[in-house]
Amino acid sequence: MMSDKRLAVVTGAARGIGRAVVLALLKQGRIVAGLDINAEQLKELEEVVKQAGFSCETYCVDITDTDALTEILESLAAKHEGIGILVNNAGITRDKLLLQMSNEDFDKVIDVNLRAAFIAMRVAARSMVRNKFGRIISLSSVAGVMGNAGQSNYAASKAGLIGLTKTVARELARKNITANCVAPGFIVTEMTDKLPDVVKEAAKQIIPLRRFGSVDDVANAVAFLASDEAGYITGQVLCIDGGMAM
Ligand SMILES: NC(=O)c1ccc[n+]([C@@H]2O[C@H](COP(=O)([O-])OP(=O)(O)OC[C@H]3O[C@@H](n4cnc5c(N)ncnc54)[C@H](O)[C@@H]3O)[C@@H](O)[C@H]2O)c1
Repeated sequence: MMSDKRLAVVTGAARGIGRAVVLALLKQGRIVAGLDINAEQLKELEEVVKQAGFSCETYCVDITDTDALTEILESLAAKHEGIGILVNNAGITRDKLLLQMSNEDFDKVIDVNLRAAFIAMRVAARSMVRNKFGRIISLSSVAGVMGNAGQSNYAASKAGLIGLTKTVARELARKNITANCVAPGFIVTEMTDKLPDVVKEAAKQIIPLRRFGSVDDVANAVAFLASDEAGYITGQVLCIDGGMAM
């Protein structure tokens, strides 16, 4: 049996929402391993975590490298008596309208956002089944729920995560493993900082709460779904979007 000190693995942990998730899970008392492709920002994460009075393990890896990702997850599972919590957070955008979208732009986004999450789930599920406990949380997006012009690749990957999650939730429910998605709307991060002011203003007009969310708004929801209190919630998509997608 796993203890409450169970291991949580977070992909795309170095900055943004992933970093906030790492801190929220540490505050919940978990052992946390953060994976990211960006070595420099992983160092920053370690510093921020230390300043908050915690520590975490970090691993520099491109999660589209299936062998490398599998190896890290398997060694983490061996070291910590299994993976208790998996947060599929890493994600990228390569926005173009359909007619301009290249095969490469489509494939790359699917590889990072969807395929890597599938690989991570398959590896993590092995120890979760053995331990008869698991929490799988994947970062979808309102784009995956509603669609979004200019994001056919991204929206497909995020909708794909929802189908993947609901299927895994059905397959693994008997083993006391839950799988859920959170679907953020507009969150203040480097991803949305880049948007022109007119786009930001237009976005606020379609958000009932009339403002963007914070990374902590998302991290708190992820931490809740990872908690023991959320044990009867599975196969759900929790929108954290100020009411935008309802
Ligand atoms: N920011 C938003 O408004 C918003 C809205 C909806 C959904 N999301 C989703 O939330 C998640 C986090 O978003 P964010 O805004 O914090 O993004 P971000 O770009 O700030 O962070 C993503 C992290 O993933 C890492 N990453 C990218 N490719 C990787 C790879 N191949 N291997 C390992 N790590 C990789 C990056 O280095 C980065 O640290 C993403 O899945 C994103 O699609 C974000």
